Formats: sequence, C-alpha cells, structure tokens
Amino acid sequence: MDHFNYKGGILHAEDVPVPEIAASVGTPFYAYSTATLTRHFGLFTEALAGMDHLICYAVKANSNLAVLKHLGDLGAGMDVVSGGEYARARAAGVPGDRIVFSGVGKTRAEMRMALEGGIRQFNLESEPEMLALSEVATAMGVTAPVTLRVNPDVDARTHAKIATGKSDNKFGIPISRARMAYAETAARPGLEIVGIDVHIGSQLTDLDPFRQAYSKLADLTRQLRADGHTIRRLDLGGGLGIPYERSNTAPPLPIEYGQVIRETVGDLGCEIEIEPGRLIAGNAGIMVSQVIYVKQGGERKFLIVDSAMNDLVRPSMYEAHHDIVPVIEPAPGAEQEPYDIVGPVCETGDTFARGRSLPVLAAGDLVAFRSAGAYGAVMASEYNSRPLITEVLVKDDQFAVIRARPTYEEMLARDTIPSWL
Ligand code: LLP
Repeated sequence: MDHFNYKGGILHAEDVPVPEIAASVGTPFYAYSTATLTRHFGLFTEALAGMDHLICYAVKANSNLAVLKHLGDLGAGMDVVSGGEYARARAAGVPGDRIVFSGVGKTRAEMRMALEGGIRQFNLESEPEMLALSEVATAMGVTAPVTLRVNPDVDARTHAKIATGKSDNKFGIPISRARMAYAETAARPGLEIVGIDVHIGSQLTDLDPFRQAYSKLADLTRQLRADGHTIRRLDLGGGLGIPYERSNTAPPLPIEYGQVIRETVGDLGCEIEIEPGRLIAGNAGIMVSQVIYVKQGGERKFLIVDSAMNDLVRPSMYEAHHDIVPVIEPAPGAEQEPYDIVGPVCETGDTFARGRSLPVLAAGDLVAFRSAGAYGAVMASEYNSRPLITEVLVKDDQFAVIRARPTYEEMLARDTIPSWL
C-alpha cells in the first residue's frame, strides 16, 4: 500500500495534488511520501517484533538526506556501501553504532573514515579485505567489529544483474571456506568477530531462497560457535521484492518473511539485522513527467515525455516494469491507446515501456511512474547533459524540495578548462 491515490479525479501524493507540485517545481520530478516510508518501516518492525533486531535501511535505494533523516528518526539503522553513503547517514543524524558497512571493495580510506566516525560493524567480503581492515584498525589503535559475508550458493531466482548469492557472483566468501576464513580473522589483530552476514539478491518474490540461505547460516552459526567464535549477530541482508505491477500477484509480505527468519535462525539467541532498501523506499516514490509530444511513427505511436533513461534507468537496464498512470484520472471506460513511452535521450534504449495501453493523452498532460522511490534518483546521471531532476518530500498536505534541480550554470561550473588550452 502507498499514499499515491486519486482524489476527486486527480492523483495526490498524500494530501497534495500532484499538479500543484508540478506547477511549483516544474517537471520532471520525484515525489516521496513520508507516510509510505513510515508504513513500510513499520511493517518490518512488526515482522521482527519480539526479536532483538535492528533494521538497517539500505541507503543505496534512496540516499536523499531527508529520507535518511526520516527513517533514522523512526529508529532505523543504515547499511552503507561507500564513504559517501557513510557521510550521508551521519549527516542525517544516524549514530555510528547504528551503521553497518557492506560492499566488496571498501578502501582503506573508507575504513578509516568509519572507524573514526563510529561503526556498528564491517561486513567483510574477502580475505584481502579482512587483512586490510586489520592493518588499518591496528595502525589506528582500535578494534573493528566485523562479520564475514558468506556466499551461500543459493539461487535467488531474480534478475541476473541483481542476484548476489550464487557461487559465481563476486559477493561474499564461499560458505565452504567460511570456517577457515573465520579462523584467519580471529587470529588477526584489530578485529573482533561479532557475527555472520549474508545477502542473496534483490527483488526476490519467493521466500524459498531466503529460507535456504538462512538455514545454511544457522548451521554455520553452530559450527563456528563449536570452533570457539562468538556469533552474537546475524545480518540477513535485504532483498524482499515489491509489487511493481498492480495487476500482478503480490510478492510475500514482510510478516511472512519475518516468519521465515523466526523458523530458520530464531532459536540461536542472536541479534538480527536486516538491510531492506527497495521495500521501504520503492513504493514510497513516484516520478512525474510531462508529455512533450505525441508522435506517430511508421507503425507505433510514441509518447515522448520529459524524463528519460538518465532519470530512471531501471527499464533500460533491467527491462523493469513501472506502472505509468495519467495524473488526471481517466473517466471509466475512457478510450485507450497503445503507446511506446520514451524519453528525449538519443538512444533507442531510452524506452520506458512498449505498447503500453493508456487513455488517450496529449502534449502537456502529466503522467506518473509508480514504484520509483528506490533505485530511481540514486541511479540517475546527467547523460545528454540533462540536469538531475528535482526531488520533493510530501508529508500530509505539505511538500518541500529536498534536492533542487541544478541550473545549467551550476552544471557547467563543475568542469574546468585548463589554462594551457
Ligand atoms: N544489502 C546489500 C548488501 C545489498 O547489496 C543490497 C542491494 C541491499 C541490502 C538492499 O536490497 P533491497 O532490499 O533493496 O532489494 N539497482 C537494482 C537493485 C540493486 C540492489 C543492490 N543491492 C534495481 O534497480 O533493481
């Protein structure tokens, strides 16, 4: 459930009519709903009720400071994968002891930054990374809390580009080598083992891969404890999918996911961490665009809108589906037409949807791309020198710009022409 609904025939973000935002900030823009963020965070809190847990929101899904601040105020921890994300989480007021640091290629500078600023744990993904952190922490005279991310060799049954838990993916240490890696880690100075980490992929629409991975983690916990390690924390990663198509069957609910956690690792006495991103932010955002032209091609009719693949890359990159709806609610039984919905970027891949049935639209009409709150703005680029689009946060009947679209002057000011040219 989200908070983008038609009221009186006009799409609203909570209690704000979308055309009002468009008139104020111009198109295209992203609009996020605080109520939806709150609701989705609450679903995980409910799912893990009664278990010692921390929900570490995956910052990569939507890293706007206002979004992070809102979630941090609700009590969320953060899962970061770069110095930049760490800086964002801290700037949003999240204390270091609620931040976990994931990612296969943490640099020494990033490790130092997190150790100086405070960190809950590093999720280490390889032996060389473990050795690097040991050196960095030792040189600083501190002890770094760590888990090792294990790769459980489980098929997440999701899009190949976002599956991470098979043995041929770059992520984690093969589970078959885990005991050896833990022994090596325990022998290194400057590191304190606190638990185990796993993350098998994103947009999972089936609970079975989670069940398999978490069962393997439970077995490993027992083995590692028998080997003498202190395993008090299990980081179970993110990945629960969201409904992108309203017409499709919905993926499992957080409460059902919580049940899998209880059944697989609930009796180990471990503190549970999860790292959801998409489920919290995805349906808490829409991208709003204006139709520039309706163009009749040879055979196909194109709806050329003012947002493009550089603003929302998911359809081009993963063939992802986003529901696209007119901002003015069509009358029941209104005539529909199949459109190819495309942006102005000079690539055929700049296509949001092909043959999508929509009520007849004209230049100047507004359309909203649903489920755009996660992996939308964060993956945007300025390709074709298109400025990053405005982001807006809505709360009840108020909205605020939380990232302004840069002017051409600001965009150009980042480049420098050498004096010798
Ligand atoms: N934890 C780790 C270590 C991750 O790598 C990810 C996502 C998450 C948590 C959060 O997963 P989520 O709950 O959001 O599924 N750009 C792609 C998704 C990439 C996901 C990368 N890792 C997309 O637009 O579908």
